[in-house]
Amino acid sequence: MMLQLIKLLAMTLIWCSSDIEDAVAVAAPDAHLVNMGCSTYNASELRSFYANINETFSDMRLDIRNQSKHFGTVGKARGEVLTYAMFQCRNYLSKNECLSCINTATTQIRNCSAGNGARVIYDGCFLRYESDRFYDQTNELGSGVSCGNTSSTVTGFRGAGEQALIELQTATPKTNDFYAATKTQVAGGSAIYAVAQCVETATQINCLNCMQVAYNNLHSCLPNTEGRAYDAGCFMRYSTTPFFADNQTIDIAPYLKQGDSSKKWAIIGGVVGGVVLLLVLFAWRWSTKSNKVPRGNILGATELKGPVNYKYNDLKIATKSFSIGNKLGEGGFGDVYKGTLKNGKVVAVKKLVFGKSSKMEDDFEGEVKLISNVHHRNLVRLLGCCIKGRERILVYEYMANSSLDKFLFGEKRGSLNWKQRYDIILGTAKGLAYLHEEFHVSIIHRDIKTANILLDDVLQPKIADFGLARLMPGDRSHLSTKFAGTLGYTAPEYAMHGQLSEKADTYSYGIVVLEIISGQKGTDVKNDEDGEYLLRRAWKLYERDLHLVLVDKAIDPNEYDIKEVKKIIEIALLCTQASASTRPTMSEVVALLKSKTLMDQLRPTTPIFVETNMTPQEGNSTNSSNATASFSVQSGR
Ligand SMILES: *[C@@H]1O[C@H](CO)[C@@H](O)[C@H](O)[C@H]1NC(C)=O
Ligand SMILES: *[C@@H]1O[C@H](CO)[C@@H](O)[C@H](O)[C@H]1NC(C)=O
Ligand SMILES: *[C@@H]1O[C@H](CO)[C@@H](O)[C@H](O)[C@H]1NC(C)=O
Ligand SMILES: *[C@@H]1O[C@H](CO)[C@@H](O)[C@H](O)[C@H]1NC(C)=O
Ligand SMILES: *[C@@H]1O[C@H](CO)[C@@H](O)[C@H](O)[C@H]1NC(C)=O
Ligand SMILES: *[C@@H]1O[C@H](CO)[C@@H](O)[C@H](O)[C@H]1NC(C)=O
Repeated sequence: MMLQLIKLLAMTLIWCSSDIEDAVAVAAPDAHLVNMGCSTYNASELRSFYANINETFSDMRLDIRNQSKHFGTVGKARGEVLTYAMFQCRNYLSKNECLSCINTATTQIRNCSAGNGARVIYDGCFLRYESDRFYDQTNELGSGVSCGNTSSTVTGFRGAGEQALIELQTATPKTNDFYAATKTQVAGGSAIYAVAQCVETATQINCLNCMQVAYNNLHSCLPNTEGRAYDAGCFMRYSTTPFFADNQTIDIAPYLKQGDSSKKWAIIGGVVGGVVLLLVLFAWRWSTKSNKVPRGNILGATELKGPVNYKYNDLKIATKSFSIGNKLGEGGFGDVYKGTLKNGKVVAVKKLVFGKSSKMEDDFEGEVKLISNVHHRNLVRLLGCCIKGRERILVYEYMANSSLDKFLFGEKRGSLNWKQRYDIILGTAKGLAYLHEEFHVSIIHRDIKTANILLDDVLQPKIADFGLARLMPGDRSHLSTKFAGTLGYTAPEYAMHGQLSEKADTYSYGIVVLEIISGQKGTDVKNDEDGEYLLRRAWKLYERDLHLVLVDKAIDPNEYDIKEVKKIIEIALLCTQASASTRPTMSEVVALLKSKTLMDQLRPTTPIFVETNMTPQEGNSTNSSNATASFSVQSGR
C-alpha cells in the first residue's frame, strides 16, 4: 500500500512543463508562448469540468469585450467540480489585441485536455485555471526565465538594463494596477523597452516579493538584447525591440521618489553609525589581535547585524572533521553534526546539499540573513553560516533532546506524558503562527514533521529547517518533478497541484498533532481490525464519537481531561480538511487550543483520503457539501 501511495503522489507531481520558444505559428508578436504547464492529474467529472472551462472562457471574453478588462478572475461551480480561472493582458494591449491573445491562450490551453490545472504564459497575456483557489499566489511556484540569444554590443547596455529592471521592480508594486512600462535610452541611440506586471489579486508585499524574484532571474539575461521572467503572480520582460508604443510608457518617477528623502537619511545614518561601529570594532579586533573582519561593503552596520560568518576550519575542528561520530542526523537539506566551538559552545552544524544551481548560491546570503533574524522561543535559532567554495554550512543552536520523532516512534517512545505532549502541540502552533503571520515576510515551512520539531532541555518544541525550502528549486515543484516535502504530511493540494500556501503547513501540523496524540506514524497502517492509516482512522473514530480510542495507550488516562483531548483531535481534523481555505490559520489554531468554548461551534469537514486504488476520494460525509458552500465567484478588482 505504501508503495502505491508513493507512486500515486509521484505521478501527480509530474507536470508536463516546457519552455517553448516560437512553438506557436501565430503572427502577432504578443502570441509568443513563454511557458506552458498542465497538471497530469485529471479532473474527475469530465462533463462538468469541460462545461466549467467553456463557461469560464466565455465569461472572460465578455469581461474583455464588454468591460475592456485587462485582468479578471472567474470561478465556476458545477456540483462538486470547482474551477478557478484567471486571465491577464499586458496593459499596453488594446482591447482587440487582448481578446486575440486570450483566444490564442484558450486554444493552446486545451492541449492540457483533462488536466484539472493548467497555465499558459504569452508575451502579451496569461491564462491559468485550477480546481482550487490560487488567486493570491505570487512566487511560491513556477518561476522561470527565458533569455534571448543575442548579446548586445552597446557599451553600458548591461548597466542601463539593470537600472531599468531595478526601477520596475521598485515601482510596479506601488502603482494602482501593478503595472509599469518604461523606455530607457542607452548610449548609441538604442533603447530598452521593459514592462512589469503583477496579478491584481496579489498584495503589495507579495507583488514586491514576486518582482524581486523576477528581477533576480531576469537580470541574469543581460547583456542579451531580450528576456522574460515569469512567476505564478507576475511577469517582467525587456527587449531592445519596441513591443509597445513610446507614448504607452508609464511615468514611474513618482514611485521611485516616494520616501526617498527619509531613506537617504536612514542610509546616511546607517553609514555614519556603521563607520563609528566599524571603527570601534576595528579597535577592539586590533587590540585582541583577531583577524576577523566583517565582510561586506560600506553599509557595515547592517552587515554586523546579520549572522556570524564562521570559519570553515573552526567548524571542521568543532565537528572533528564532520566525523560520523558527531553526526546527529540527516535531513532533506543535508547532514547535521554536533560541534563544540573553541569557546565551548555546543552547536548543530548543517552541511547543505544543493544541486548545481548558481541561483541558490546567489540567494544564500540573503536567505541566511533573513532566517537569522527570526527570533521566537519555538523556532530554532540560526546562529550563522559559512561559505567555502561551493560549500554552504549553517550553524544552529544545539537542542539537547533531539527531535520529537524519537519520543514518539523511536527509542524514547511512550515517554512523553500528556502535559508535555500538550505543550509541544501548543508551542509548535505558536512557532508556525509566528513564521506565517508575525515575521515581516511570511515564511511557509513546507516540511513540518516530527523530525523537524526539536525539543530543548525542558521538552519545549522548537521548529527546525524553516526558510530553507525557499532556497531549493522546489519553488517550481508543480512544474517539475522536484518536491520539497515529506509524504504523509503533505497537503493534498500541494502534493497534487503544487498549490502552496500557509495552509499546507496547517495541514502538516494537523498530522503531527494526530501523531503526538496517538503515537502512530502518519503513514503507518495500524495493525488492528480497522487497518487504517492515521488520518483516516482518526476521522472514522471521530465520526463515531470514539475519539479516545485514538489516544496513545502509553498516556495515563488520569492525566488528561477527556474534553480537552477530544477538542484537540477535532482541531487536528480542522487542520487536515480537504479544502485549504476552510483550514484555520495557525494563529486561529493557537486561539482554538487556548479557548474552552471556541471549538463548540466548529465541525471539521472530511479530509481527502488517498485510497489504495490510486484515486484520491472525498470521504463520504454529510459535511462534504460545505466545500461548495464556501466557494464564491470572484472578479478582478
Ligand atoms: C466546450 O468547448 C469545446 C470547444 O469549443 C467543445 O468541443 C466542447 O464540446 C464543449 N464542452 C462542453 C461540455 O460544453
Ligand atoms: C455584451 O455586449 C454585447 C454587445 O455589445 C451585448 O449584446 C451583450 O448583452 C453584452 N453582455 C453583457 C453580459 O453585458
Ligand atoms: C497542442 O496539440 C496539438 C494537437 O494535439 C499539437 O499539434 C501541438 O503541437 C500541441 N502544442 C503544444 C504546445 O503542445
Ligand atoms: C487524463 O486524460 C487524458 C485524456 O482525457 C488521458 O489521455 C490520460 O491518460 C489521463 N491521465 C490519467 C493519469 O488518467
Ligand atoms: C537565436 O534564436 C532565433 C530564434 O529565436 C534563431 O532563429 C537564431 O538562429 C538563434 N541564433 C543563434 C545564434 O542561436
Ligand atoms: C500614441 O501614438 C500612436 C502613434 O504611434 C497614436 O496613434 C496614438 O493616438 C497615440 N496615443 C496617445 C494616447 O497619444
